[in-house]
Amino acid sequence: MVLHSIYDINEKGHLTVSGLDSTELAKEYGTPLYLLDTDHVRKMCRTYKEAMEESFGSDSKPVYAGKALCYSGIYKIIKDEGLYADCVSSGELYIATKAGFDPEHIFFHGNNKTDEDLRYAAVLGIGHIVVDGDDELDALEAIASNLGTNVHIILRITPGIDPHTHKKIITGNVDSKFGTAIKTGQAKEIVKKALSKKNIILDGLHCHIGSQIFETEPFVDALDIMIKFMSELKKDLGYETSLLNLGGGFGVRYTEKDPVINYTANIEKLGEELSRLCLLYDVRKPVIYMEPGRSIVAAAGATLYTCGTVKEIPGFRNYVSVDGGMTDDPRYTLYQSEYTIVNATKAGEEADFECTISGRCCESGDLLAENIKIRKPSRGDIIATLVTGAYNYSMASNYNMIPRAPLVEISRGKANLAVRRETFEDLISRDADPTKKG
Ligand code: LLP
Repeated sequence: MVLHSIYDINEKGHLTVSGLDSTELAKEYGTPLYLLDTDHVRKMCRTYKEAMEESFGSDSKPVYAGKALCYSGIYKIIKDEGLYADCVSSGELYIATKAGFDPEHIFFHGNNKTDEDLRYAAVLGIGHIVVDGDDELDALEAIASNLGTNVHIILRITPGIDPHTHKKIITGNVDSKFGTAIKTGQAKEIVKKALSKKNIILDGLHCHIGSQIFETEPFVDALDIMIKFMSELKKDLGYETSLLNLGGGFGVRYTEKDPVINYTANIEKLGEELSRLCLLYDVRKPVIYMEPGRSIVAAAGATLYTCGTVKEIPGFRNYVSVDGGMTDDPRYTLYQSEYTIVNATKAGEEADFECTISGRCCESGDLLAENIKIRKPSRGDIIATLVTGAYNYSMASNYNMIPRAPLVEISRGKANLAVRRETFEDLISRDADPTKKG
């Protein structure tokens, strides 16, 4: 198999993930089952880190976006590899810091952080709070002053760019719930306001244009707009921006139709453009951060299911139902995201059966793919979705009260349970006991 290096087929014709027979893993841990090759995660961390240091300067850093995959174990890997982390909720802050991640190395995001979130971040000593707008700036100043502390922030700015990705994962438009827009003049106002706050230290700016972007052009456009904005801040307010966070990373190859992405070359290109634009607009080169999530973890993952019902409707279509679905991977339901799906038990045989892969929820939209070809499965075959390391586990739900799937890490040919399967007991663990009197 060629999609990514971790997938292959063994002599039994079974799909292997990181050298391990997927059907054996399914037997041992049950299905649905998330797999994650942590060696591959580390490789991607190094790719970003080395390329960014080389292209932007040695202070530059990748900041892993935990929303892509958040569980305690991932923070050990991210920390070992010297990356920083981006958290988007107090829940993520809790997991990261409990796992021993240095709060100083965290950027705290969110378009609507509550006062409790802001206080929690200030008390934890989070490195940078990414302030989304005016209200938040006032609330944070009040909280910091009340705590008698100073907080370091960067401001999330919307550059006003449409990067041609799915509309639900665009974030850099002027018409967006995120950030403060340059075009409306509000961005300059919020910088001015941040500079006037006593307990706030403005370290720089942030922008994020969207997710699953393959080309460098939208990032270069964002750089151009941001560096130009920095030069205006220098001229009009005498403010020199020393840190610029460019938001999420590049896209990921989910199917053969997607391009092969050269992350190092893309970052090199951004590095060249950064130097050119800083000269053009006469600003000092800022320290650059990027926040890759998907491209760090997606291609390190796979999800295993067991095939249940195979239903053929003559003149219509064929349904292959698996024992998971939108509860462990809502991405097709939400964005019609395409995946590579294989019959892992018969991966060596020709994909001959056109079908729709459906989940087990009581909901017609609970699908993983439509009109794809896999080897015709029988009940009990293992079906695998590839490239599921990002936005699967982290977006899972308990709809229909289906317990969430476990996550098994694979490193150097060894599998290790990193998150256990939820139990029925877990499902009622927060409920009051209705059989108790009173
Ligand atoms: N930084 C910020 C501020 C973000 O909003 C995001 C993603 C990232 C970094 C990470 O971007 P990445 O490198 O993963 O592309 N659930 C959707 C993706 C939503 C992305 C939201 N923000 C999906 O499954 O495709």
